[in-house]
Amino acid sequence: MTAMSAPRKLFVTTALPYANGNFHIGHIMEYIQADIWVRTQRMLGHQVNFVGADDTHGAPIMIAAEKAGKTPQQFVADIAAGRKPYLDGFHIAFDNWHSTDAPENHTLARQIYLDLQAAGLIETRVIEQFFDPEKNMFLPDRFIKGECPKCHAKDQYGDNCEVCGAVYAPTDLIEPFSALSGAKPVLKSSEHFFFKLSDPRCVAFLEQWTQDGRLQPEVANKVKEWFTVRTNPDGTQSEGLGDWDISRDAPYFGIEIPNAPGKYFYVWLDAPVGYLASLKNLLDQRGESYDDYMADPALEQFHFIGKDIVTFHTLFWPAMLKFSGRKTPDSVFVHGFLTVNNGEKMSKSRGTGLDPLKYLSLGMNPEWLRYYLAAKLSARNEDVDFNPDDFMARVNSDLIGKYVNIASRAAGFIHKRFGGQLGAVSADGQALLAPLQSACPAVAELLAEREYGKALREIMLLADRINEYVDQNKPWELAKQEGMDARLQDVCSTCIEAFRLLSILLKPVMPSLALQVEAFLNVAPLDFASAQSLLGAGHRINEYKHLMQRVDIKQLEALFEPPAAPEPERLVPGGEELAPTITIDDFAKIDLRIAQIVNCEAVEGSTKLLRLTLDVGEGRHRNVFSGIASVYRPEDLVGKLTVMVANLAPRKMKFGVSEGMVLAASHGDEKANPGIYVLSPGPGALPGMRVR
Ligand code: MSP
Ligand code: ZN
Repeated sequence: MTAMSAPRKLFVTTALPYANGNFHIGHIMEYIQADIWVRTQRMLGHQVNFVGADDTHGAPIMIAAEKAGKTPQQFVADIAAGRKPYLDGFHIAFDNWHSTDAPENHTLARQIYLDLQAAGLIETRVIEQFFDPEKNMFLPDRFIKGECPKCHAKDQYGDNCEVCGAVYAPTDLIEPFSALSGAKPVLKSSEHFFFKLSDPRCVAFLEQWTQDGRLQPEVANKVKEWFTVRTNPDGTQSEGLGDWDISRDAPYFGIEIPNAPGKYFYVWLDAPVGYLASLKNLLDQRGESYDDYMADPALEQFHFIGKDIVTFHTLFWPAMLKFSGRKTPDSVFVHGFLTVNNGEKMSKSRGTGLDPLKYLSLGMNPEWLRYYLAAKLSARNEDVDFNPDDFMARVNSDLIGKYVNIASRAAGFIHKRFGGQLGAVSADGQALLAPLQSACPAVAELLAEREYGKALREIMLLADRINEYVDQNKPWELAKQEGMDARLQDVCSTCIEAFRLLSILLKPVMPSLALQVEAFLNVAPLDFASAQSLLGAGHRINEYKHLMQRVDIKQLEALFEPPAAPEPERLVPGGEELAPTITIDDFAKIDLRIAQIVNCEAVEGSTKLLRLTLDVGEGRHRNVFSGIASVYRPEDLVGKLTVMVANLAPRKMKFGVSEGMVLAASHGDEKANPGIYVLSPGPGALPGMRVR
């Protein structure tokens, strides 16, 4: 078994999440995948440093910070402060979590750049880019909008059209505008720094590095295409690798380029350097030498990433490391995207579907999710779907029905009848346990190859055999039979031994459950080597306490219930609440007509009312009283057009009958806002026309 060989020295990372939002379930899946692998390696006796960090730089974060009214430093610090509940909650055991804005990263990124420059791989070129004259900054493609040059859809981004799918350069947009200020961007030239990826040395190195078997075959094949064709920003194609623009102009939240005031590293230049910075920070804390650690030829370096960032990790990053004289990764493990309910790929920023913190706050067991995702993961770059029904079925039938059940059926008898002591396992029990023990190295190997789904299927097949044994031997019946004590102890001891072996194999996936099992079984921390021996007769176990609850459908319903929409802050328009909703039929009952005020006079004895004579095109005039005397002089209204309710039942008033009502606007709080405004139609309307 692998544990017998010399311990490996492994440096492992996950991608560094942008510090512009909380983790979503896609991030958590990546961390779970990496965490299972790291735990597997440790259980095989290898030494691992497993680190992460926040990816803090770049224009989007700078702009988001400005919107939030914070400095970028404060903004990313606030995001960082929210990481722990997720990582602890899902038992993701990073040895360190750092930041790409930390001093280690500034130093390392600048040093790597200087080394690349010394190698003759940095070049400057003047390029033209859109510039926002109001914000005084160059605009990244995402912040330029305009009309699509192909389909003429309005409000499209600077790099591609979401309506017709066309790919173009921001300069192709019709009537471009800055999404930041709305200003019309101007073309401005600026000196940019390029990493010469097209240099024959880089090309030769990458062709070899990406195709020598270190990458997953499907990833290597994809990468191979990039050596022959590449897609330019304007959608056209060119031959071979293009040079990489690694600089951005101030203002930019990032790391200043040495000897180039006002120029900053493009975020993707310093982001992967953050892997090294986090490792260095960890080793410094421990008083170990980073340089010695990295110089060890035995050191292996692995990065877990998603399929969307393969270019950065299989071209730019290895080339940066190689030509700055550093160690290159041994492999990059690419996973697919997690979808929820067959939904679309979760947007990086929105990450909808399954809120990890809500999952935890509902009291759902984090190891259900670890188990479920592991059961769906393979070593291939494939998408994975979270399906709630499938989730419940898997967890309840596999974990509770097959695995936990073995302990719960046997432990009570050992505890009550035999003082917690295991007995001798007879021949049939040994025949059951031996193949289980010998299956362990193969299962450990599957885990080490990231074939988690296959490994868990193997483990559940092994559990099936144990459950068959339990069903055949029926300990609950043995317990009732005279003189069957020894057999009862034998059968139950076999079950406990088997349960321990299964627990070893499941430990990388369910580390917290494994801790409970270790306490229950009264054993030292389980590792793969411990599968080669059994507990043996006389070993005392502790009282069994229920290890895991079943998934309750109500929890899943609550998990996917959309969050209650926050009560929008409702302004009371015009100082008055809106009237209850009516239907269009209700509205149709009100017959509104254009009316001409043919005469208007004061009403003797009333300070409020005016008497209006209206022509609604009926061949007769109507008499209408209106409470507008305080704001209108009669002579100003004569001859004007207005709108009236023409089918209002006539009403007898003190001064005569009113045959309708003239429409006027007023504020709900008349004292504070005393105006009254008679409505008038736009030009061209004629008396008698209906208003609808
Ligand atoms: N900041 C960059 C990575 C820099 S690495 C030096 C970035 N950040 S990210 O937050 O957008 O993504 C972080 C990781 O999460 C990436 O590996 C990405 O592929 C992964 N995922 C983002 N959404 C995902 C899913 N829906 N499913 C699985 N992984 C996903 O990219
Ligand atoms: Zn279009």
